[in-house]
Amino acid sequence: MVDVILGLQWGDEGKGKIVDYFAPSYDVIARFQGGPNAGHTLYVDNKKIVLHQIPSGIFHENKINLIGNGVVLDAVTLKKECEEVEAMGINCKKNLYISERTHLILPSHRALDKASELSKGIDKIGSTLKGISPAYMDKTGRNGLRVGDILDKNFISQYIKLRLKHQKLLDNFSFGEDISAWEEEFFEALEFLKQLQIVNGEYFVNDYIQKGKKILAEGAQGSMLDVDFGTFPYVTSSNTITAGVGSGLGIAPQKIKDVFGITKAYCTRVGSGPFPTELNDENGEQLRKTGNEYGSTTGRPRRCGWIDLVAINFACMINGVTQLIMTKADVLDAMDELNVCYNYRVNGKETNQVPFQMIKSDIEPVYKKFKGWKTDITSIKKFDSLPSEMSTYIGYINETLGISVNYISNGPGSDQIIMAP
Ligand code: GDP
Ligand code: IMO
Ligand code: MG
Repeated sequence: MVDVILGLQWGDEGKGKIVDYFAPSYDVIARFQGGPNAGHTLYVDNKKIVLHQIPSGIFHENKINLIGNGVVLDAVTLKKECEEVEAMGINCKKNLYISERTHLILPSHRALDKASELSKGIDKIGSTLKGISPAYMDKTGRNGLRVGDILDKNFISQYIKLRLKHQKLLDNFSFGEDISAWEEEFFEALEFLKQLQIVNGEYFVNDYIQKGKKILAEGAQGSMLDVDFGTFPYVTSSNTITAGVGSGLGIAPQKIKDVFGITKAYCTRVGSGPFPTELNDENGEQLRKTGNEYGSTTGRPRRCGWIDLVAINFACMINGVTQLIMTKADVLDAMDELNVCYNYRVNGKETNQVPFQMIKSDIEPVYKKFKGWKTDITSIKKFDSLPSEMSTYIGYINETLGISVNYISNGPGSDQIIMAP
């Protein structure tokens, strides 16, 4: 059977920590979409590590980690990350597998990402500049190069053909930066990639399913950054939702069982785009400071705000979420008062639905107020020991969403997680 862990907000919900926590119960941990725009943080023996390309199960012995066909792969990032992980005693040549259908991010994709963002001016998406959108455009435009192609003797000529196509686009953008150093690194990294285990991902993962093994699909980004259902055009370029597991790994939908949806106890977003519950005041500042809300990939300060149940409810619907996980609950420990957004007022009318054009709508969040718990919860181990104000806060969320918060993360440490009885 296949279970899924994904984010219900705009990314950085704590997926890395949660996947690492659940990994011992699974045989295969697989990334199904996204690329090095992701930054998944975990603590291994109290050492912080941020994974961009490698699935977050890599630190568990005898667990298979698969980079699926739905991912876009930056070989340079992967090489660096493998070296980092290997320095911590993990053998990537043993536990890491890559689908031959995974599309490659070329240096010119990164240049195109940068050129495109520059050309947009104040309307920029706020991309991580990792080449994600140009790489996915080449996939759907049927131009892209895949991991399996690097083993082909004609790879270089295929590369040059695409590189020339990209150069014309870059010239159109009047982008004059020299990317030859990036290209050098890229070809070096391809030699490294050839030493890893490149497999037919769909047969690989289905063989495990056939044998009764357990698969955990790890989402990247968040549901509100999904290319179809997110706050378009301020989204990423892949399907970040449960449906992406099917196309991103080659798994049939009826094989999917549990979908664990992660939400922070509040909300953050990095990059441009609508964020109805954003706080541009001292509360927002306090959340950023206490939650250390700075991007794991780009270091940019994250925008912070109250939890938005309209967006989470929408995300639960499109993902088929069966269990909720709340992270960073401890970040609210010192707050006097908390707000939970349960409806939007759009152009003066109250609704519990996410509108088509969030960017153009005049959205005002409708809040219910809660008393803060004013207690340090970081050492609590049992649900029953949580402060009563917190139980009230969680109870309201469970009731509004009709799904239970079954796990609460109360600190970044791998043991700071409380399971509902
Ligand atoms: P991801 O992209 O969803 O994996 O999330 P990130 O790693 O980008 O961001 C989550 C950040 O919050 C990381 O710095 C984690 O170490 C940290 N974190 C995760 N869970 C908790 C928690 O329960 N409490 C606190 N204070 N930090 C947490
Ligand atoms: P994880 O997996 C938060 C955001 C970018 C930008 C938009 C498009 O760590 O949760 P892209 O580089 O994909 O073209 O950028 O999406 N974004 C993320 N925000 N967490 C992420 O990943 C993100 N990946 C992309 O900031 O607004
Ligand atoms: Mg992240």
